[in-house]
Parts: sequence; C-alpha cells; structure tokens
Amino acid sequence: MTDLLELTPFSPMYETVRRPLYTETTTSQALYLPVAPPTLGSAGAIIGRELYSGKAFIYCPFSAFGDGLPGGNMIVMGDTGRGKSAFAKTYAARQIRLGRQVVVLDTKEQKEREEGEWAALGRSLTGKSPVKFSPGGGPGASCINPMDPAIAGRRQVELVRTIVELGLGRTLDEFAGSALRIAIRRAHQRAGDLGRIAVLADVAAALRAPEESDATAKQRTRDELLGDGLEASYVLDRLCGSEEDATGDLTGMLDGPTSLGVDLNADMIVFDLTKVPSGGVAMTILVAVIAVFLEEVWLRPLCECGAEPSRHERVVVDAGSGAWELGPNRESGCRRYTQRKRILICEEAWHILGVPQLAALLEKFLKFARGYGLSFVGLVHHLSDIDDSPETQAALKMADTIVIYSQKKAEAEATVERLGLPSWTADHITRLRRGIALWVVGEVIYPAVQHLLVEAEQHLCFSSGSMTDFTSTQPDAA
Ligand SMILES: Nc1ncnc2c1ncn2[C@@H]1O[C@H](COP(=O)(O)OP(=O)(O)OP(=O)(O)O)[C@@H](O)[C@H]1O
Ligand SMILES: [Mg+2]
Repeated sequence: MTDLLELTPFSPMYETVRRPLYTETTTSQALYLPVAPPTLGSAGAIIGRELYSGKAFIYCPFSAFGDGLPGGNMIVMGDTGRGKSAFAKTYAARQIRLGRQVVVLDTKEQKEREEGEWAALGRSLTGKSPVKFSPGGGPGASCINPMDPAIAGRRQVELVRTIVELGLGRTLDEFAGSALRIAIRRAHQRAGDLGRIAVLADVAAALRAPEESDATAKQRTRDELLGDGLEASYVLDRLCGSEEDATGDLTGMLDGPTSLGVDLNADMIVFDLTKVPSGGVAMTILVAVIAVFLEEVWLRPLCECGAEPSRHERVVVDAGSGAWELGPNRESGCRRYTQRKRILICEEAWHILGVPQLAALLEKFLKFARGYGLSFVGLVHHLSDIDDSPETQAALKMADTIVIYSQKKAEAEATVERLGLPSWTADHITRLRRGIALWVVGEVIYPAVQHLLVEAEQHLCFSSGSMTDFTSTQPDAA
C-alpha cells in the first residue's frame, strides 16, 4: 500500500489540480435541472416535462389552488391537430385516477368510427356509452327538459329566457321578459293540473293564452300581455316544432320530458353532441341547458369517500364561537370530509365563449361551481373564434391557466395581445411543435411544456385516422 502511494502518478505534484466539488441536494438540482422537483409541486396529474429544464411538469388546479393560482379554470387553444384533445383526454384520465369526476361535452365525430372522439376513453374508464343527443330524437337518443322540476325556479326562468333570446338573436325587453316569467309559472301549474311535468311547448301555449288575473296584476290588459309574449311563443314554436311539424331545431333533444340514461356518480360522463349541427342555434342552446342541468343535479356536495356531508360528524373546532367542520364518517372509515373535485371539459368551447348570452351564463355557473370544487376546461382554436363582448371578456378572465399550442402568426399575435402576454411569446407560439405548449399558470409563464403520451394512451388519443395512409406506412407483411 505504501508502495502504491509512493508511485509518482499519485503524487500531488503530478496530479491535475481540481477543486473538490461539494454537493448537496439543491446544488445537484441546480446543476442538473431534470432532477429538481416540479415547479408546481408534485401533487396532481403528470403532464410531461418542461423542455428548457427537463423538469417534470405536474399540474393540478386543486393542489396548486391558492397564492399562485387564484382559480381552477383552464382554456386550451391552438391550431387543429396540435394536441389539444390528446392533452385534455390524458389529463382527464390522469385526474380520474386521483379521484376526480369528469364530464365531457364531446362535439367532434370520428367519422370512420361513427362516434365522438371521447367515446372510446369514456368506455374504457367506465364501461358506459356516451349520453347521445340527436336532432329529431330516435332510438337511444337522450332528452333534457329545461322545464324539469330538478332545475330550481329562478335558474329555470333564466335558462328559458336564454333559450328564447338565443333563438331570437337578441335580448328580450322588460315586457316580453315579464310575460315569459308569468307563462313559465302558468305552464307548471297547467301541466301539474293534468298530472304531468311541463315542457317548453307548454310555455309557448301559456304565452298565447295569458290569464286575465296575471295581466291585471301587472297593470296590463290581457291583449297587451298577449302582445308582450307573442314573439317569444313563436320562437319556442320554431325551436321545438309541433306534432305536425318536426323540423324544430331542438326537436327530440329539449322538447320533451328528461330521459337521460346517466349515472351521475360515474367517474366520467360523456355527452355526445356530435350529431348536433356545429355552429347552429341548437348546439348553443343544448350546451346552455346541459350546463344548467349539471349545475342542478350533478354538482352536489359529496365527499371523496362517496358519502353526503350529512353522513359526516360535525367536529367543533372553536368552543368560543361554536365554529365546526365536517369530520369523520364512521360508516366509510373516512377521517375527514373532503369535497369530491369535478372537471367539466368542453370541446369547441367557442360554442359557449363565442356567444355573449352563453358566456354570461357560463360566468355565473363558474362562480357558483367554485363552491363545489369544479374546474372548467374549455378547448378553442383561436381567440378570434370568440367575440370581444364584455360578457366574453369576463368569462375569459375566469381562466387562470391558459395552455397555448402552436398558432399561425396573425392568430398568435392576436392571442398575445388579448391576453397581455410579453411580445416575444407571439413568435415563440408559432414555432411550437405538436404536443408542446406554452403554459400560463396564474402569472407565471412556462414557455414549452411537452405533453407526454404513454403507449397505453396513444390509441385513445389518436384522432388522425381519416388523414393517415396506413397502407403505405404499414406495408402488409405478406
Ligand atoms: N403529445 C403528443 N405526443 C404524440 N402524439 C400526439 C401528442 N399530442 C397529440 N398527438 C397526436 O396528434 C394527433 C392530433 O392530436 P389532437 O386530436 O389532440 O389535436 P387537436 O389539437 O385536438 O386538433 P383539433 O383542433 O382538430 O381537434 C392525434 O392523432 C394524436 O395522437
Ligand atoms: Mg381536438
């Protein structure tokens, strides 16, 4: 051993002098960023990695909620085929593994499969087929009744008014609004007398046959009240059609009693709207009705253990004020009430954000839904799809996370300007490759987050079947 040490190569005189490297965990992280912890914390759904640092990128609107992230809503935008839906699908599936419930409004049909893009994912997660809406109805088609007693009074009046205004293309004045409110009340009463639930056609009939007493109560004559509501009744007739005329835009979808084969406790519920003409009034109205229906029947307090709040014990946390919180549930063994979190994903969200009345409805819905732990995810191509009304601006402001996939120059510039992002991001957005996006989470910009798909997810996200030439890419082995 001593001999060895005496060998000249080991003598300090001949050794290259290097300063010793003292490392500690944070130092090694700084030197090799991919081992550093994800910036947004490690709780949540794995998205992929940040390209510039190699760090893992994990995001959860519920875990990150607080100082850095004031709200849980997200807008995903980008040109066609850049990976918006693939991201939303895997994000939903990964969030479900964390115990969340997801509802999807699926608007894009995969022609070769004759079903919506999300059908396969929904089936693989829950074993259930989508809840389908088809103009004209038909076997297996669903119907939601905007007059359903499950929708509370004030909300119902707002909803029916929105339907009429969307059909009319403008807002109702005070007289027409008042006639509509009266007709909704009368429709419920007259249908109740016949032992059934009111539908939209009953509102149209009540608008055409006002009661003397209702007119007097409003200091109007019966004819004046009739005049106030006549136009709205025509709109409802046109939308719902009649027994002789089945051409109404909403026929078979919103004109009858609610018939939804939907398990409200399922991890994922897919509403298939792919047969509803895109950009038409029916799609817009249907989305509005589904949102309000979900608000009334789906968004109810429920613990992650599956029990209602009433099944949890009240634990007094401050004897002085008597303040209490929901504690354990002995039946399920759950230690503390934790609200089950929900995610509502809306493909082609310009159906909502592009229409001021709907944007206003959405804004109210999101404010209300926050108390139920809901995160809204809306997918759009560009902000130019979306109108610039104050209602839309207000709804856009509700999104605290914005994910931007590649866009063309003009659209990227418009996006950057409208969102108040730094000017360098416009050029950067045009260069992003498929599956890579610029994320804005609260105030912080993550310039390039690569969304990683694992092999098992790839077939559920593959949306390019119609554009892929399988015969030339996969030659027959024979
Ligand atoms: N991160 C990714 N890694 C690998 N492939 C991806 C990734 N993201 C998307 N793809 C593939 O790219 C194709 C298009 O993706 P996707 O359907 O998500 O686009 P999109 O932005 O939703 O388009 P559109 O606006 O037309 O709906 C899909 O076939 C998908 O499998
Ligand atoms: Mg898509």
